[in-house]
Amino acid sequence: MHANLRRLPLLLTVAASTYGSAALAADPDHGGDLARRWCASCHAVTSEQKQASADVPTFVAIARKPDFNPEKLALFLLDPHPKMPNFPLSRNEAADIAAYIGALR
Ligand code: HEC
Repeated sequence: MHANLRRLPLLLTVAASTYGSAALAADPDHGGDLARRWCASCHAVTSEQKQASADVPTFVAIARKPDFNPEKLALFLLDPHPKMPNFPLSRNEAADIAAYIGALR
């Protein structure tokens, strides 16, 4: 029961990445809002943003990695990298940001 519920956001993310059903699942527009609010101080979160920390990968670069996978990214965001501050992201928000980054490819 518990395990099944925990897998639900992953399934939604996968559904979102197959387009068409995106409106029902992860919301890349909302993810973009979150990225500008939470991530833009360090990462360039759009292809237009010029100002960000050096040595921090841009979101476009992250999206273009050969092994990019929105499901893995959403999981990564729920367990932030030690160099990143602790984000109060819900599973849905993490999936939205992953969908946003995926759309930058
Ligand atoms: C305080 C600065 C800071 C903020 C804010 C920040 N990050 Fe990061 N992030 C970093 C740094 C530094 C790295 C590189 C870590 C490393 O390579 O050791 C990184 C790495 C990443 C990576 C891994 C990139 C790779 O090489 O695979 C992802 C994905 C990521 N950040 C997403 C986000 C998202 C999404 C947000 C907003 C919710 C965010 N970050 C906010 C500093 C930040």
